[in-house]
Parts: sequence; C-alpha cells; structure tokens
Amino acid sequence: ILPDYLLPSLPSSSSFSLSSLSRSPSSLLGIGALASLTAYWLVTRPRPMHPPCDLNAQSIAVQVRALCSGIRSRHGLFTRHARVYLMILKPGEPYQWISYTEVAEQAQVLGSGLLGKGCQPNPEQFIGIFAQNRPEWIISELACYTFSMAVVPLYDTLGEEAMVHILNLAEISLVICDKEEKAESLLGNKEKGVTPTLSCLVIFNDCSDAIVERGKNCGVEILELTQLMHIQLVCHLYYPLCNRFMYQFFLSISQGSFFIRQEDVSISYLPLAHMFERMIQVVSMFCHGARVGFYQGDISLLMDDIKTLKPTFFPVVPRLLNRIYDKILGSVTSPLRRAVLHYAVRRKQAELSSGVVRNNSLWDRLVFNRIQANLGGNLRFILTASAPISPTVLSFLRATLGCLIFEGYGQTECTAGCTFSMPGDWSAGHVGAPLPCAMVKLVDIPDMNYYAKNGEGEICIRGHSVFRGYLKDEEKTAEALDSDGWLHSGDVGQWLLNGTLRIIDRKKHIFKLSQGEYIAPERIENVYMRCVPVLQVFVHGDSLKSHLIGIVVPDPEVFNDWVKERGIIGSYKELCQHPDVKKAVLEDMTAIGKEAGLKSFEQVKDLHLHPEMFSVSNGLLTPTLKSRRVDIRRVFQEQITNMYRIKLKRYP
Ligand SMILES: *[C@@H]1O[C@H](CO)[C@@H](O)[C@H](O)[C@H]1NC(C)=O
Ligand SMILES: *[C@@H]1O[C@H](CO)[C@@H](O)[C@H](O)[C@H]1NC(C)=O
Repeated sequence: ILPDYLLPSLPSSSSFSLSSLSRSPSSLLGIGALASLTAYWLVTRPRPMHPPCDLNAQSIAVQVRALCSGIRSRHGLFTRHARVYLMILKPGEPYQWISYTEVAEQAQVLGSGLLGKGCQPNPEQFIGIFAQNRPEWIISELACYTFSMAVVPLYDTLGEEAMVHILNLAEISLVICDKEEKAESLLGNKEKGVTPTLSCLVIFNDCSDAIVERGKNCGVEILELTQLMHIQLVCHLYYPLCNRFMYQFFLSISQGSFFIRQEDVSISYLPLAHMFERMIQVVSMFCHGARVGFYQGDISLLMDDIKTLKPTFFPVVPRLLNRIYDKILGSVTSPLRRAVLHYAVRRKQAELSSGVVRNNSLWDRLVFNRIQANLGGNLRFILTASAPISPTVLSFLRATLGCLIFEGYGQTECTAGCTFSMPGDWSAGHVGAPLPCAMVKLVDIPDMNYYAKNGEGEICIRGHSVFRGYLKDEEKTAEALDSDGWLHSGDVGQWLLNGTLRIIDRKKHIFKLSQGEYIAPERIENVYMRCVPVLQVFVHGDSLKSHLIGIVVPDPEVFNDWVKERGIIGSYKELCQHPDVKKAVLEDMTAIGKEAGLKSFEQVKDLHLHPEMFSVSNGLLTPTLKSRRVDIRRVFQEQITNMYRIKLKRYP
C-alpha cells in the first residue's frame, strides 16, 4: 500500500530518553521496597482485554458464498454523524477545529461548484486532487463523493510521465491543487499539449494574477477554492454512492471488543494519496465521529505535532516503528540502564502474553513514561501496515509504549485491508485473521513448492472490498482478478493452526543460484530494510553465479551520522564511494540478515552504494511504488558486472 521509504526518519531532535533510569534502581532492592511493591501490585493488578473470539480459532473455513448484504454509501457514513463533533486541525496555525456539520456543508457547496464547472455527477467523472494532507483534501474528497464523482489522487513522486498518463487515461478536466507550484507543473504539461483534457485548476491557497494569465493563455481556468465555492447551483441533488466496500470495511473493523470512540484523535501525515491513510480517516475516524489532526506538512516536525495534538491513535508504517525502536535502544548506553530496560521489557512482555496491555505498571512509571510522553502521552492504539514488521520490534514496542498495536495486511486492490490482528492477541509474527469483509484462500504454487493442502500458497482475496479492475486495462485486470472474482495478491501465506495468517514469501521473482538454491529476492530485501543505514535495497543474483549482490540507497537522513560513529566523515556522495563505508554497511546487513535467519547463500556478498533514490520519475519504481526489477538491473548493469568480476576473498 505504502512504500515505507516514503517516510523520512524521525527528526534527530526527537529524543527518546530514558532519563528516569538514571536514578539508582538499587533503592528498589530494599526489603521494604519489595513489600510496598507487592502491595502496589495487588492494588494495580491488571486485567486482560477480552478478545472477541477464541484466539485459538480466529478464522474458519467456509463454503464460498456471499458474505454480508448491508450496503450504504460512503457519503451516508459521513452524514450519519453530521451533528456530532468532528474536528480537523489546520496546519501551521494555532489548533483550530472544524465541526462535522461544517465540513459536510463545505463539501456540498464545493461539490455544487464542481457541477457548476461542468463536472458530471456520476462515478465516471474523475477529479484530480494534487495536494499534501490537509483539511481541504478531505473536504474536496467528500465534495466528490457527495455527487458520486471519483477521486484520483496525484502526488509528486509519481513523476511527470506517470502523471500525464493518469490525467489522460482518466480524462481529467479538473484538478484541485494545494499550492501554485503544483498548478504550475500541471500548466507546463498543458502548454506542451500533452494533457488536452485539462481545462480547470482549483487552488486551495490564494493565487497570483500571473498564473491566472498563464492559464488563460493555454485554455485552463484557474480558480481559488473559495471562488469555486461561490458558484451557486440551482439544485442540490444527492446521488447515492455505490461504495459498498467502504461500508463492508467499516462493519469489519467495528466488530469485536475494540471500538474507536468519539474522543479518539488521530494524526494525519501518511500520504492521503494512498488507500491506507484514506481508510484510516474515512473508515476508522469519521465513521465514529472521532477527530483527525493534520501535521504541518513537514515530516521533520512530526514529533512536535504529535506532542501538541496528543493523538490517541497513531497510524504508522514499519519503518517509523523501526526508527522508534532504534532510538530507544540507542538512548540507553550504560550497561546497567540497558539491563534494567531489558528486564522491564521482559516483565511487560510476560504480561502481554497473558493478554494484558497497560501503561500504568510500575515499569511504565519507572522506565517507559518518558518514551510514552514523547509520543504525546495519550496513545491508546497504533496500527501498522504496508510492509512486514519484525516480531522483535513489534513485541518490544508493545511493551514499552503500553498501548495496543495492531497489524494489518492488504493492498490497494482490496481497499487496503484484508486481515487484521485480533484485539487481545498480542503475539507477533502473523497478520491476524481475515476481516469479515474478505474471504482469503491459499492457492498452490508448484514451482515454489507451496501447496494449499499444507496450508501454504498464494494469498487470494474475495469479497466486497476487492476492486473491480484497473481503469481501461483489461489485461492487467485479468492478471489480478480471476474469473471467479478472486484477487491474486502475489504474496505467499501460511495458515497457522489458530486461524491467523503469516506472510512468508512473494510469489513473483524467484531465481536459482548456480549451486541450485532458490532465491526470493524481495524477502531478503525486506530483511535488509531493517538496517539503519538502508533506505532502499535491490538484491540481485542469477543462475550463473553462486552468490548474491546488492544495490543499496543509503538513507540520507541518518547515513552521515551512522558513518561518523564509525569514524569516517564526508559528504553523502563521498561516503557512498568509500570502501570502508561499504564494508561497514555490508557487515551491518549481514548481521541483521543472520539475526533474521537468512541462510549464508541468501546474504549479499558485495554491494554498490548508490546516492540517488529509486523513484517513479527515474523509472525505477512502478506507479504503485514497487521496484521495476528489470529496469534496475539494466541501469546498474555496469556495477553488477564489476561486482561479479571481483574475486571474493571470504564468505561472511
Ligand atoms: C495510557 O493509556 C490510556 C488509554 O488506554 C490513555 O488515556 C493514557 O493517556 C495513557 N497514558 C500514557 C502516559 O500514555
Ligand atoms: C497463533 O499461532 C502462532 C503460531 O503457532 C503463535 O505464534 C501465536 O502465538 C498464536 N496466537 C495465539 C493468540 O495463541
């Protein structure tokens, strides 16, 4: 859903200090203290959360049939709470909340404005939104839904070529942008004559006369959002939406013992262009009358925004959790403090295994309260999705943060979610059971020796949450959806005995090394993504060679510091050339690989450090942000050949 390298690291200013540890823990060791500890425990004895089902049987085999029948429109979901208190945070200004009623009204006015500009109130009308997360994004989205139009999110990292392709494919005439710069880049394409259908740009901010003039010259009307909202339309019609999957998803999430409450506050910073964030807002927050605060638009200030907003719900991608984990461990230097931290984590993990999640144990007060305060001190739950998270990190953070951490699995093609970990199940290493909106089956992959009869195979999903197809692309649609409506995910899963699903592999991209071992490079790449200096990694090998090599893009946010700790300094580019730096990165990757159980032949034996990110615009990522493996191989042909030319001295 969301590539986790979209997210820069935590700003270096945010410290996860454990300063309360510096108070000598020896005072706790007195007998008197022990007695009071016992008394304390008796009073604060924790109770486990009751799971909504038997955790040893979290999913059941079914005969294939339709599941739920309740169908409502997405717009209806929003207005259900029209009288409830909805709030949205405005970026950069003192916090200011907007009520649900106001948002719904503005959406309706804006939607009327869109009709006034000739947009048709039907699902074949595509409206582009090209903006960072902010309240107007949501209002524009709801404006489209109010009149049954479809939203097409555009984002910078798409690159020009993909952007032009999308605008033409969906025949977009109107794009809503946040800033003039975005409008300018779209106008540039119009001037070149490559986006003939574009005729109107709406800008959230004020716009200059110059750009209005420039638009006029190439036949594009430029309006400010407020101007569009003044275009009155004679009738205000509601067109019910056919957004079954949203509703199905909503039903799914709200089942069980865990509910989002009206008091909940979430922070919006993951790109709204991705389904994961949209689902979080629409399905989790708005459907429950809860509040959403927006970050200022600068990811390096995210931690400040969190401290001000004090969210109760924090949607994350694994990369961010990995960073938090590294920060916490990195902040404990002395062996004594380290020992206390690990002891405290083990105590909390023991509680977790009996179902107790809390933030008010003795350990929280002594050891973890600083960490929790850094995340606003109000967290009730976290949801991680979009990439696999290591069980070590997950259970460590469940213990230290003292809040519920759920893990989900899915993809955009099934509206972001298809499995979800069960409230009360705090074990790690699986992605939970299928949501009620989806059926999941595993299909044989004989080439890779996965068979459904052994509970292993390609994960296929069916249900109302599954998409209908790619726009005007029957070939790709047929690849993804079979004739019975099952979405083939390309991920390989394994059923665990208690009915949860574990992701164990990727179907595509598998090759053999010369000694006959099979390699699934994406699985290895996911392991290496855990390394601090690694932002992106591409693992390469072929059947004529006996070992793997890698192309690594170091994370510019942390790379210089990471290298400095090893006594080497230089610019980002210079460091990428430095042989000792390469050696250090390779050693780190090998160590992490070993820890994650990679076999020796699965480890890369040489690296090329590349200072420029793989992106959609340089053609190395697909528009859905997966690696274009063939192109990466082509672009780095020379480096690959060189790496294989050098005789290996040792096999780590
Ligand atoms: C502890 O959790 C509760 C909700 O479960 C929350 O209201 C409270 O703010 C949390 N405290 C800290 C320090 O995180
Ligand atoms: C479900 O099974 C897996 C694998 O055996 C295990 O790791 C996990 O702890 C189990 N979950 C529960 C809640 O028992």
